[in-house]
Amino acid sequence: MRLKILVTAGDGIGPEVTNEAVTVLKEVANLGGHTIDLNAKRIGGVAIVHDGTPLPADTLAAALDSDAVFLGAVGGNEFNSLPPDKRPEAGLLQIRAALGGFANLRPAFAFKELAVNSPLRPEIVEGADILFVRELLGGLYFGKPREWNRKTGEAWNTMRYTRDEVVRVTRIAFQLAQKRRKKLTSVDKANVLEVSQLWRATVNEVAAEFPDVTVEHQYVDAMSMHLMNQPRNYDVVLTENLFGDILSDESAVITGSLGMLPSATIGGKVNLYEPVHGSAPDIAGKGLANPLGAILTGALILRHSGGLEAEAAAIEAGVRKVLEQGFRTPDLARGNAAGFTVLSTKEMGAKVRETVKSQLVNA
Ligand code: NAD
Ligand code: IPM
Ligand code: MN
Repeated sequence: MRLKILVTAGDGIGPEVTNEAVTVLKEVANLGGHTIDLNAKRIGGVAIVHDGTPLPADTLAAALDSDAVFLGAVGGNEFNSLPPDKRPEAGLLQIRAALGGFANLRPAFAFKELAVNSPLRPEIVEGADILFVRELLGGLYFGKPREWNRKTGEAWNTMRYTRDEVVRVTRIAFQLAQKRRKKLTSVDKANVLEVSQLWRATVNEVAAEFPDVTVEHQYVDAMSMHLMNQPRNYDVVLTENLFGDILSDESAVITGSLGMLPSATIGGKVNLYEPVHGSAPDIAGKGLANPLGAILTGALILRHSGGLEAEAAAIEAGVRKVLEQGFRTPDLARGNAAGFTVLSTKEMGAKVRETVKSQLVNA
């Protein structure tokens, strides 16, 4: 098997974590006799500085010519006063739209090895295993009109969905639920918003195609609380773009750190893979970043774009093993470093590589 991957490492901790993830990916693929062709291009703040735009044309062309795009993170404080369409984040939104993936899969599960490091009590988080399906190409992020009118002192964005946009992401969420525990929770704000009423009605319509899956609806405000109280109650959680952005970061608490969460975006021309976290300017360049979310994102590439389930599972098992052995990056050891070995970004990457390799060689 041969996989052509474009790496857009981006800003802040993006390059630090993707370096580790890519090395793990290459190693695992090589051991299985597969070839990964890697190409690297700029996106985000680094592209604004070098190319004058957050998504240079050659980056987009290379992305469209790949089997998968692996993005680190974009954004930096020096760009915070730019208008939305000139910022590093605009490059990310443009590449998402161009690649066309509308279903952003964000798994959040509790590693039992990390239960003691979670800010929630172990008996609350243990066994939690949620798959967020976040709609990625609609809602407030892309809806028009949008403007900040400085003369009148007004600004507006538009939360807009078409029925078809809801249908296609809902079908994917139901199909995934069928392969899991067959429960789907759709999250909206249908007590206030028309767009959520359309969302809910459409989810109910599509539900008729999947009679084996149980459906429930929750309002987003209540859901943000239920997730922290009873995370085990949820299997697949389907929601629109902004609600999914917020709830998926909240759910990092279930795992123990935002640095643990991977994501895969499917349904378009080229799948896009990115850890859920951002460029973390507060810790960038210090070797403090947790590379496990990026490494687990690498596993999703092998699973969803390479069809290499065994190799993907080997990376996930390697991560688990390393945690079991007590290795932690500082974000995970937080408040409870006793008995753990705290590693830098590079050391953690090397530890996972070593562990996955010995597991595969001895398998
Ligand atoms: P962030 O996710 O970068 O960081 C939030 C907090 O989590 C910070 O304290 C950070 O240190 C910590 N953190 C994040 N990832 C970590 C990791 N791997 N290891 C250890 N700690 C980690 O969010 P933010 O601070 O709100 O945003 C910073 C910039 O990142 C902004 O410009 C934002 O727009 C951008 N952003 C980009 C993406 C992306 O490119 N996919 C995602 C989210 C935010
Ligand atoms: C994410 C990020 C992005 C989003 C930003 C950086 C555009 O927060 O991937 O979660 O809001 O989608
Ligand atoms: Mn986010």
